[in-house]
Amino acid sequence: MTNSEAETYSLAESFGKMLTPGSNLFLDGDLAAGKTVFAKGVGKGLGIVENIKSPSYTLLCIYEGRLPFYHFDAYNLSGIDDFFDLGFDEYLENDGVVLIEWANVIREGFPYGHIDIKIDKIAENEEQRRLTFTARDGSEEERILKEWRNHEDSCL
Ligand SMILES: Nc1ncnc2c1ncn2[C@@H]1O[C@H](COP(=O)(O)OP(=O)(O)O)[C@@H](O)[C@H]1O
Ligand SMILES: [Mg+2]
Repeated sequence: MTNSEAETYSLAESFGKMLTPGSNLFLDGDLAAGKTVFAKGVGKGLGIVENIKSPSYTLLCIYEGRLPFYHFDAYNLSGIDDFFDLGFDEYLENDGVVLIEWANVIREGFPYGHIDIKIDKIAENEEQRRLTFTARDGSEEERILKEWRNHEDSCL
């Protein structure tokens, strides 16, 4: 649970620090849930100094940090076929971290592992968000999540 934009940003920053090459992050949540805020925090955690913008119109923004960061917005795609037709698969299982906003659009048929991050608004409070992280049982992604949680616990 986070209580402000700044809290979501710093949670994402700490998460970004744990990521390894080939990490695929699926972000879902309504408009203005905080997907782009989360992406900015991940970018900070990856050591990117550039200002991270929403790729809603460009579909993809690429940044160089500790690892390359490929920030996608799938809202305007119709499915995974579009993703492949645009040549975006070139960035998957590669040297960097992939983050996809509106990932539900390309979820079906996505050929690689990923971490799901769902951001939900809590109706009663304008600034409260619930962030839910999930990965497939026994996967490398699950291992990264566990390691991050242990790290977070030891820093409380
Ligand atoms: N706890 C929170 N976490 C993230 N954003 C929040 C939070 N509370 C309020 N906000 C606001 O919600 C909006 C999220 O915008 P954005 O990240 O662009 O959403 P999305 O990319 O999901 O459409 C911002 O205006 C931000 O200030
Ligand atoms: Mg966005």
